[in-house]
Amino acid sequence: MNISGKTKVLAVVGRPAHHSLSPKIHNFLSDKLGLDYVYTAFEPDSMKNAANAVKSLGIKGINITAPFKIDAMEAVDVLSENAALSGSVNTIVNDDGILTGYSTDGEGLYASMKRANIKINDKKILVLGAGGVAKPVCVMLKNKGAKDIIIKNRTESKAVEICNDLNKKMNTNIFRTFSVMENFDIIINTTSVGLGTNETPVEDAGLFDGAEAAVDLIYHPAKTRFLADAEENGLKILNGLGMLVFQAIIAFEHFTGVKVPDSLSEEVLNLINE
Ligand code: ATR
Repeated sequence: MNISGKTKVLAVVGRPAHHSLSPKIHNFLSDKLGLDYVYTAFEPDSMKNAANAVKSLGIKGINITAPFKIDAMEAVDVLSENAALSGSVNTIVNDDGILTGYSTDGEGLYASMKRANIKINDKKILVLGAGGVAKPVCVMLKNKGAKDIIIKNRTESKAVEICNDLNKKMNTNIFRTFSVMENFDIIINTTSVGLGTNETPVEDAGLFDGAEAAVDLIYHPAKTRFLADAEENGLKILNGLGMLVFQAIIAFEHFTGVKVPDSLSEEVLNLINE
């Protein structure tokens, strides 16, 4: 590592942020590509103050994590279309004092599913959960050609809200809420149920009938009960590590303007899997 007074600063911003895997991924990428960046973590008191600090200190870019992903929409000068639709920002690039907000969560999941050969086009997809990350996932699924997108959430009103909002803004009618048991091609867990526990968001294994694949955004544990049950029912499974890695890689490309080659993406996946 060769840090100088000219080294550009990147960081993850959240509360908490210091335990994040993002510094490991981004510093590995700049090191491998020979780029002069250093990536660290900040836990600011508010998103607004963080945005001012980014401008004032000339920080080149930040990733946003909980609880600032929604506040970040207000803190930027320019919002990408995808971030506006997704209702959240996870990446901010500072171009000479102009902050642009992006959402790379959906694209990150897409890259991970593509790598796992789980095809979205023309599929009927059940999305479990209607929290902050469900929306970028839904936007991506629609953009990649899903036939039907059904949202099932503990608090149904939040699922209704996302369906209404996205049907309107994306000029479609493919979003609807779950009502009765039916067959799905792909089931995606965006809830926090199973994170570090042995719980599952699926009480009725009938949900797996006829399905091809189950995707969990959780990566700790690597195989949640949701994924283990899905696998037992014959489904292909994918955890959230790939999404974590690819959303970071896409953010890194926004920060630096440098394309990360596929071979290096594989190295990052190995690094994180260690
Ligand atoms: P956010 O991503 O907005 O921070 P969250 O509070 O972390 O949201 O919750 C993410 C998702 O997990 C939500 O869909 C939440 O359901 P509710 O909208 O009903 O709160 C879901 N979730 C969290 N704990 C849950 C549980 N014990 N059972 C079912 N769903 C749960």
